[in-house]
Amino acid sequence: MSIEFADRLNNVNFETEEIELEIINLLESLRNGGERIGRGRTADIYISEKNPQICYKIIERRHVFYNFVEIEKKFLEKAREIDVRVPVPIFSYRKGEYEVLAMERIGGFSVEDVLFNEIELPENFNIEFFFRELQKMTDTLHRNRIYHRDLHEGNVIIEKNGYPCVIDFGSAKNAFSEEDSKRSEFYNPETKKREEVVFATTDESNVLEIKLSLKKYIKKQSLTKKNK
Ligand SMILES: Nc1ncnc2c1ncn2[C@@H]1O[C@H](COP(=O)(O)OP(=O)(O)OP(=O)(O)O)[C@@H](O)[C@H]1O
Ligand SMILES: [Mg+2]
Repeated sequence: MSIEFADRLNNVNFETEEIELEIINLLESLRNGGERIGRGRTADIYISEKNPQICYKIIERRHVFYNFVEIEKKFLEKAREIDVRVPVPIFSYRKGEYEVLAMERIGGFSVEDVLFNEIELPENFNIEFFFRELQKMTDTLHRNRIYHRDLHEGNVIIEKNGYPCVIDFGSAKNAFSEEDSKRSEFYNPETKKREEVVFATTDESNVLEIKLSLKKYIKKQSLTKKNK
C-alpha cells in the first residue's frame, strides 16, 4: 500500500514536470505563430489563441530591476481591490528563464501607440478629463502605499471609452513614503552584489510628462489638419 502511494506521489511529481514542459511548448508555439500586441524592454505580449480577451506577458531573460510575475500579479489584484483600473490578472507562471503573466487584454492603445504609430484617439477624447482620472488613480495607489515607478507612455492605455488604464507593475513597490518609494535594492548578477538604486522620477512627474507629450501631439495634429 505504502509503495503504491509513494509510486503515485512520484507520478504526480513527474506529471507536474510534464505539465510545465507542456506550458513551455505551448508558449513556443504561441511565440512562433501568435499575434504579438506589444513589446516592452522586458516582455513580449501575445493574444491568447483561444480567447482574444486574454493576453500573455512573456518574459524570457530576467531583468535585474523587474518584479517577478507573481509579485506583478499581486499588485494587479491589490489595485483592483481599491478600484484602480488595471488588467484583471489571471495566472502567473515562473520556471527557469520563463515567466508568464496571463491577464485581461485591454481594448485600446497605449499613449505611445498614439504618439508613434499614429493610432486615432477615441471619438470625443478629452485630454483634461483623461489626466484628471489618471492622477486620481495614482493618488489612490499612493494612499494604499503602492508606487508604480514606471509610468511612461507605453504603460498607460487609452481605453475606447476615453478612460485610462494603468498596466505593467513590473517596477512597482510597496512603500511608506515618496522618499522610500524611490529606493530599491537589487542583486546584480554581474557584480554579484546587492546594489541600491534611487529612482529619479516620481509617478506625479511622469504623469505630467505624458500629458505634455500628448498635448503637443494633439496640437500638432490639429495644425496639420488646418493646413490641409
Ligand atoms: N493587458 C494588456 N492589454 C493590452 N495591451 C497590453 C497589455 N499589457 C501590455 N500591453 C501592450 O504591450 C506593451 C508591453 O507590455 P509591458 O509594458 O507589460 O512590457 P514591459 O516589457 O514590462 O514594458 P517596459 O518597457 O515598460 O518595462 C505595452 O506597452 C502595451 O502596448
Ligand atoms: Mg511597459
